[in-house]
Amino acid sequence: MTDRDLLNMAREAAQNAYVPYSHFPVGAALECADGSVFTGCNVENAALGSTICAERTAVVKAVSEGRRKFVRIAIYGEGENYCMPCGSCRQVLAEFAGKDDMEVLCTRSGGRYVSYRLSQLMPHRFEL
Ligand code: THU
Repeated sequence: MTDRDLLNMAREAAQNAYVPYSHFPVGAALECADGSVFTGCNVENAALGSTICAERTAVVKAVSEGRRKFVRIAIYGEGENYCMPCGSCRQVLAEFAGKDDMEVLCTRSGGRYVSYRLSQLMPHRFEL
């Protein structure tokens, strides 16, 4: 699967975003080590702190279906800036990226994207 394939899946997922407060749809497509892909969108709430980001939606879907090893995630957002994962999502992704690290693809409007290793974005996750 190419980066573009995964980014297209993230864009598709953003169509289900529930964003009555921010009006900022985000989609994520998470590729697991076995090749399966789980998508997610942001789901907002009137209690704003209860909002769930697209990336965490995808992670929770994957883990609840038995996948715990991730290799790449595509994040789609139509902002002026690249749609980077928030701090909470970085921590949650790092929980499952393990020593092998993972790739994080971030888009902005116009379809341009940048690619990072999660270890660049989250060098020292909290661990117990
Ligand atoms: N959002 C995500 O879904 N992922 C991120 O990494 C950053 C922010 C969502 C949360 C909220 O619904 C909207 O974008 C605006 O903050």
